Amino acid sequence: KTGFVTLDSGYKNTGATTSAITFLDGEEGILHYRGYPIEQLAENSSFIEVAYLLIYGELPSQAQLDGFSSQLSQHSRLPQGLENILAGFPANAHPMGILSALVSSLTAFYPESVEPNQTKEQIALNITRLIAQISTIAAWVYKHGRGEQLIQPKANLDYCSNFLHMMFSTPEQDYEINPVVVDALNKLLILHADHEQNCSTSTVRLVGSSQASLYSSISAGINALWGPLHGGANQEVIEMLEAIKQDGGNSEKWLEKAKDKNDPFRLMGFGHRVYKNFDPRAKIIKAACDNILNNLGVNDPTLNIAKELEQAALQDSYFVDRKLYPNVDFYSGIIYKAIGLPNEMFTVMFAIGRMPGWIAQWKELRENKEPIGRPRQIYTGQSVRDYTPINNRN
Ligand code: SDX
Repeated sequence: KTGFVTLDSGYKNTGATTSAITFLDGEEGILHYRGYPIEQLAENSSFIEVAYLLIYGELPSQAQLDGFSSQLSQHSRLPQGLENILAGFPANAHPMGILSALVSSLTAFYPESVEPNQTKEQIALNITRLIAQISTIAAWVYKHGRGEQLIQPKANLDYCSNFLHMMFSTPEQDYEINPVVVDALNKLLILHADHEQNCSTSTVRLVGSSQASLYSSISAGINALWGPLHGGANQEVIEMLEAIKQDGGNSEKWLEKAKDKNDPFRLMGFGHRVYKNFDPRAKIIKAACDNILNNLGVNDPTLNIAKELEQAALQDSYFVDRKLYPNVDFYSGIIYKAIGLPNEMFTVMFAIGRMPGWIAQWKELRENKEPIGRPRQIYTGQSVRDYTPINNRN
């Protein structure tokens, strides 16, 4: 402490705001969206219904859900000109970098979205456009990376089916929508939809607190999510599992690497700032892995490697003492891979899932008229000193 400042690097013990959106209990492994347990939502709801719940606070009536879904369909085509920006990116650019750039470019295509004082209707339109267009943008980023023709959304498809269509259809051949895949996608996106004040959501709130626009704030959140310690971990996990498979599947050796303080390698997909017993999302995703891969007839050796790694870690005092368990990123990539997504698209899927949470938190901050975020510091630099002309310097 110096005077009035308490240093809390990483905000490990700092509450930045009040919020009515998501409840987390790290000791008990509890996660609720607007009071509803995620286990029930993952089992019974759809991603768009959960998006509505997070943003507007209540589960929609059938009429409200139909209206929201048709609004999303109506706004799912991208503004003219965005395709030219996409075309300027090298094919091997990481999708997350393109995603944040294209979301930021929406401020140019919809300049009215930048106004600080907008009506509720205008804000709702900005929100609907973003949820509708993020899946089209993501699919087009994927197609651009593969040098394939861009596919337009279809008005008669639900959100997840449309995403799969834009990802995997070609001008010659429509992708055959598999209900098992659609169900898996809904479940995964629901489980990623919000997570109170994690790094990327706190970024969205901090940027939004300066009255920056929704699209600018979300673009910042996408960049924060990209980091390998945060959403980028789901890509790191699958690359780690594949490296272990190449290495003969020897989990013990990799656990030792993760424990070695001189080795920068960490067991990706393990550990969490809040969950200290288990991540309820990881439990659901792990269970879903088995039946989705069975239903798809996919036999992926990395799933067994993941399970062995988890088993070994949970019996290893290094991990148990530090309360390190699988988090949301540990098993999710195995499902994305089974659906046909490449590793570099996994964090983009996290961003699509987290979109309603980021939006709900940005909207709440604005409605609560929260002050601009401006933390202090403890200064550790030079004491005051006089300027020296350059010819007097050594
Ligand atoms: C997400 O916050 C959220 O809610 C995020 C998220 C969301 O939905 O938004 O849940 C999504 O980001 C999940 C986390 C994805 N990241 C990873 O899987 C990367 C690997 N995990 C770690 O980097 C780490 O566990 C974090 C970043 C998740 C949490 O870091 P903390 O809370 O700052 O913990 P720490 O780094 O201080 O670690 C405490 C100890 C240290 O050892 P000691 O110094 O005490 O000896 O545990 C060790 C760490 O070295 N440790 C690990 C480890 N994670 C922590 N050692 C090996 N492998 C790991 N994965």
